Amino acid sequence: MPEPTEVRSMFARIAGTYDGLNKTLSMGIDRRWREATIRKAGSLKGARVVDLCCGTGDLSLLFAQQGAQVIGADFTHEMVCLAPAKRAAQGGDLPAMFVQGDAQSLPLPDGSMDVASVAFGIRNVESTERCLAEMLRVLKPGGQALILEFPPPSRGPAGQAFRLYFNQILPRIGGWVSGDPEAYRYLPRSVLAWPKPDVFAEKMRDAGFEGVGYKSMSAGIACLHWGSKPEAS
Ligand SMILES: C[S@@+](CC[C@H](N)C(=O)[O-])C[C@H]1O[C@@H](n2cnc3c(N)ncnc32)[C@H](O)[C@@H]1O
Repeated sequence: MPEPTEVRSMFARIAGTYDGLNKTLSMGIDRRWREATIRKAGSLKGARVVDLCCGTGDLSLLFAQQGAQVIGADFTHEMVCLAPAKRAAQGGDLPAMFVQGDAQSLPLPDGSMDVASVAFGIRNVESTERCLAEMLRVLKPGGQALILEFPPPSRGPAGQAFRLYFNQILPRIGGWVSGDPEAYRYLPRSVLAWPKPDVFAEKMRDAGFEGVGYKSMSAGIACLHWGSKPEAS
């Protein structure tokens, strides 16, 4: 895992090309993964949501479209500063605000949120445990954590094909378009170092979440994890 300053400077360098490359490299499927996250949250009218590592705000804005009051937080200014313009392009009146903040130490009171989410971000946070503890801290009892990540590709044929794409093709396209090959070599490296879904589910239980579960999506390319803060906490 690189130092947080390196992670931040990497995302700062690729911020301008991040959204376009995301759509291209995932062939648009990333939208479906985010929508699955929203569906898992259930009724969101008036719910208070914090979206950690929000980047340019895609998941935050989807929550806001469902009537949630959303705070998107990301520690890279160059990423999160692109989110308000996106909100404006969607009509400007969506209940979402964006702040620069570290997922391991959020400027939010204990027990203040109904949902805490992270999409493709927790893998980059220096301490997974501190991030999970922070999600638990800010959630109300019964509140839900929703975490989207790329698990390491499986050893089966679909996983092998994806490994090839991820290790060979994606870094070349990403490096060429963004002008930052290292950032797109870091992506497969960080995914290969990430725990398998069942191992991460155990980490969520260890952190204190209950009702922990996960769902693999798109032949295991992405995984949605969930868990809730115990009512008696
Ligand atoms: C791959 S991007 C994901 C952005 C967005 N959630 C999405 O789905 O497009 C990862 C984001 O995590 C942010 N990040 C990494 N470590 C962080 C931390 N400790 N606190 C807050 N944000 C962090 C980066 O700045 C980057 O914007």
